[in-house]
Amino acid sequence: MTEDLQKRIQAALANPQNMGEMAGADSIGTVGNADCGEMLRLWVKFKDDNGRKVIDRASFQSFGCETAIAVASLATELIRGKTAEEALALKTEELAGELGPLPPMKIHCAQLVEGALRSALDPQNAAVKKEISPAPTSAPTLLDSFSKPKAGGVKLTFLDEPGQ
Ligand code: FES
Repeated sequence: MTEDLQKRIQAALANPQNMGEMAGADSIGTVGNADCGEMLRLWVKFKDDNGRKVIDRASFQSFGCETAIAVASLATELIRGKTAEEALALKTEELAGELGPLPPMKIHCAQLVEGALRSALDPQNAAVKKEISPAPTSAPTLLDSFSKPKAGGVKLTFLDEPGQ
């Protein structure tokens, strides 16, 4: 990783945005990467904006590396005010925003965030429907989900590695 990128990641981590669970979220997406063991959960709350259903705010929790946390912080700011379709149209590198291009070994960190976003927003994803319905009033934290698993446990979506 370049020194420049490391500095940009540290800058994002110095003041991470939108970290933590969100009570009353409209949707939740949880993803994991089996290779590195990182996990990320993303909450989304919508609002009406002149007849358009747009993202009011989003928050995240992560058992992730610094890059994933930095990308999640930037991405949750970036998607504010966008419709689900607009947010889903964002490419991985756009979610990483001002971090700039990520080195190949760190691209999957941004894909973890992208996967959580897709999991939370994509109504076609059957695995997601279980997560988002009914809207949780007090969703367990990511830590709770893993330290105190209930019957059925937490639903995790593992990302496919490109080329598999
Ligand atoms: Fe796997 Fe960053 S090292 S998410």
